[in-house]
Amino acid sequence: MSAAPATVENMSIEDAAAELERLAREIARNDELYHGNDRPVISDADYDALKRRNDAIEARFPELIREDSPSRRVGAAPSVTFAPVVHARPMLSLDNTFSQEDVQDFIASVYRFLGRLPDQSIAFTAEPKIDGLSMSIRYENGKMVSAATRGDGTTGENVTANIRTIKEIPNALPKGAPAVVEVRGEVYMAKSDFQALNKQMEAEGKQTYVNPRNTASGSLRQLDPKVTASRKLKFFAYAWGEMSDMPSDTQFGMVETFRTWGFPVNPLMRRLNSVADILAHYDDIGLKRPDLDYDIDGVVYKVDSLELQARLGFRSRSPRWATAHKFPAEQAFTTVEKIEIQVGRTGALTPVARLTPITVGGVVVTNATLHNEDYIKGIGNSGERIREDDHDIRIGDTVIVQRAGDVIPQVLDVVMEKRPTDSVSYEFPKTCPVCGSHAVREVNEKTGKVDAVTRCTGGFICRAQATEHLKHFVSRNAYDIEGLGSKQVDFFFESEDPSLQIRTAPDIFTLEKRQAGSLTKLENIEGFGKVSVGKLYAAINERRSIALHRFIYALGIRHVGETTAKLLARSYGAYEAFETAMREAAQLSGDAWNDLNAIEGIGEIVARAIVEFYKESRNVEVISRLLAEVTPEAAEQPVTSGSPVAGKTVVFTGSLEKFTRDEAKARAESLGAKVAGSVSKKTDILVAGPGAGSKLDKARELGVQTMDEDEWLALIGG
Ligand code: IVH
Repeated sequence: MSAAPATVENMSIEDAAAELERLAREIARNDELYHGNDRPVISDADYDALKRRNDAIEARFPELIREDSPSRRVGAAPSVTFAPVVHARPMLSLDNTFSQEDVQDFIASVYRFLGRLPDQSIAFTAEPKIDGLSMSIRYENGKMVSAATRGDGTTGENVTANIRTIKEIPNALPKGAPAVVEVRGEVYMAKSDFQALNKQMEAEGKQTYVNPRNTASGSLRQLDPKVTASRKLKFFAYAWGEMSDMPSDTQFGMVETFRTWGFPVNPLMRRLNSVADILAHYDDIGLKRPDLDYDIDGVVYKVDSLELQARLGFRSRSPRWATAHKFPAEQAFTTVEKIEIQVGRTGALTPVARLTPITVGGVVVTNATLHNEDYIKGIGNSGERIREDDHDIRIGDTVIVQRAGDVIPQVLDVVMEKRPTDSVSYEFPKTCPVCGSHAVREVNEKTGKVDAVTRCTGGFICRAQATEHLKHFVSRNAYDIEGLGSKQVDFFFESEDPSLQIRTAPDIFTLEKRQAGSLTKLENIEGFGKVSVGKLYAAINERRSIALHRFIYALGIRHVGETTAKLLARSYGAYEAFETAMREAAQLSGDAWNDLNAIEGIGEIVARAIVEFYKESRNVEVISRLLAEVTPEAAEQPVTSGSPVAGKTVVFTGSLEKFTRDEAKARAESLGAKVAGSVSKKTDILVAGPGAGSKLDKARELGVQTMDEDEWLALIGG
């Protein structure tokens, strides 16, 4: 070491910065020596002295605290709130399969998509599906720069400081690793650590935690990394995001590389070639499951070749080259104490069974959905009988409840031997329990069948529908207004004071102005206070500008979930264009209607729901008031710089010979094109294979550019 270290008191800012850098390096080196099997080279006391010095310098120069500061590894005062991080590559989820047949179908679909014969063998990897939280950890030039939760798949939360406290995750990559690396995997809590934590909580008279997964999630979403550090979280690497270079061309090889870089990888991962071997490995993992020190809920299969993965590509939310084969759900017996009706945003009356609390697969269950009137009676969605001997579900019944993953628990069956002799059938309400309006089962216009859902006809006069609408509007994937949760929405909705009342979404944005001119101050109301009111206004004002797909999703149009909202945003680009088109489509015919139906992923039921929504003058009026307060941003076009077909609407028709239909579509979409199912004025290109018929005629009639497969391939560059 060079000159004697300066004292902290008389250090210049430059010296302090240099010294913090040296300490970060020195302490990290000792951590590594200590945690690897090497002998530590300094005593514990010397090590502590280094850390104390680091803390003292940081206390004097807080602005110099480094991202990789040792104080963050063991826990420091909260220095980050969870800022949003846009993932360089979206974090997708997996499709689920539940049976051997599903798995066979999945594998067959991979062969079919790629146009391969069964004897042209494709290798798959099979590994446990860890029941934790997915995490994306980014390294630049070998150093960890950020770690983010999955969030909505596009944007996650920045939890870097907390991830740095997980000893199993390397802070730096070895020399030779690519310049940009994003390692993805699952953060989890070991079952043994979870039990030890609960024992400790019990001993301290504190409330115990429900399961390792939620505890891991809670531990990670702490503002104080010290808390995270104390929870002993662990990690398995199994995927990646952006990579400036690929160290391998197989899934198996990539994970193996992560292992050599110091990441924990799951020892039960195998590379297999046949359905039989894959299913045998599933059974084997199932047998080992109780003895593993971590929760798993299935086995994930992935196509091993990265080249084939790229050809298979993605659907909107999940890759075509992978699936999760879930373990069967867990079940338990309990009794139905009450049946209550919940009224949702769209007026649906959902019966809920209140159960005598019971543990199912480690989680206490007190409620289970009963779906609808028919389900209680024992009738399925297509009119089929779903319970033996046709029995219904009654209050007082002993029932089998099932819980699978995060899905709402279900009542599967009734133990008839235990049915109380005086029990009576449940009478489904004919009126809304909240507003008293008629509750009806609509007839589906398309199928002519009676809908399974009973709906309140009260619309906006129904308090439940109105408040659920608002709750949806402010929810996480919609407007995401912090400080405006379910309780607050109820409070503002019920308020009789005009300066406080929020009955519709635009009222949220006029609250601050109305309050400014009022004597009844929100900050004097119990549960609010000056600071939280300030934060609430800030959170509201922050959302005066919002991504178009979130805006559309927030409107709460029936059948328009996040995926559909994204499709609409992408197709129409700007809100005005969208609304104009929807109003033009009012007659369920004409160009605007055809264009809407031509959007791949939007079917007629959804299209009708959107058009119906805009026919309701009250909706249009509320939206126009809302638009006076907020601005939906124009939708981003997909990143496809240089793509000759970006933003173009393409239709494929005829029998394609160079690629399968699915592959053609996926490829076009990856280049930023929109693929539609039918030809309309909006179509830019029709790619016609041999045998093309009416679509080709229509395209010619409309003057749409047409080409064959070879011309298409030449256009997109092969
Ligand atoms: S692969 C593009 N492998 O399951 C697909 N996911 O339902 C990337 N998960 O969000 C995911 N174990 O949190 C993959 N071995 C495994 C997994 C795994 C758990 C989680 C992950 C993902 C979710 C999808």
